[in-house]
Amino acid sequence: MKKLNGLKKISTAVFISGNGSNLKNLIKNSLKKNSKFEIKLVISNNYKAKGLNYANKYRIKKNIINYKNITFAENKILSLLRKNKITLICLAGFMKILSKKFIKKFNGKILNIHPSLLPKYKGLNTYQRAINNNEKYSGCTVHYVSAKLDSGKIILQKKVKIYKSDTIKSLAKKILNQEHSLYSKAIKKISPSF
Ligand code: GRF
Repeated sequence: MKKLNGLKKISTAVFISGNGSNLKNLIKNSLKKNSKFEIKLVISNNYKAKGLNYANKYRIKKNIINYKNITFAENKILSLLRKNKITLICLAGFMKILSKKFIKKFNGKILNIHPSLLPKYKGLNTYQRAINNNEKYSGCTVHYVSAKLDSGKIILQKKVKIYKSDTIKSLAKKILNQEHSLYSKAIKKISPSF
């Protein structure tokens, strides 16, 4: 862990596949004076991911990983993590599932952000399923990644009200907005464990 301005910062890698709005907010929050983490590496399985532009903009190392062979891909990622002394991984819209072997080998902390109030609505299409079931609330969850999809220990959640007038699009937007502050708060919450 690097010491910056007398504060220990958690050396963090963010994994993305798409827009990267969570990455953008993680970077911005990491740059705040009292933040507990610094983003040292961005990993993407998709060279077209829009979020890679934030790595460019903020001059953060980025690596695009060819996922044709998952074992090769994960070994490459593990070596990058070691090289950059990464101790925390934040999955932020990363559309690949990490193998049990990878999770074990990294031997560090891996977090994910999910657009529902887990344990409800694991997996995809969370907004649609919440609306279809007439839920009064949905939200987002930051949790540890375990071998079972979207089932690791929950760190923080934020509730969002669903109105009759909500559509998939409007609900997704409201939830994503909440994700942007929740992720950094969750890192802060677990920071004493580093
Ligand atoms: C978010 O909805 C997050 O909950 C899910 O993937 C999406 C990522 O969005 N895991 P972005 O790429 O950070 O904008």
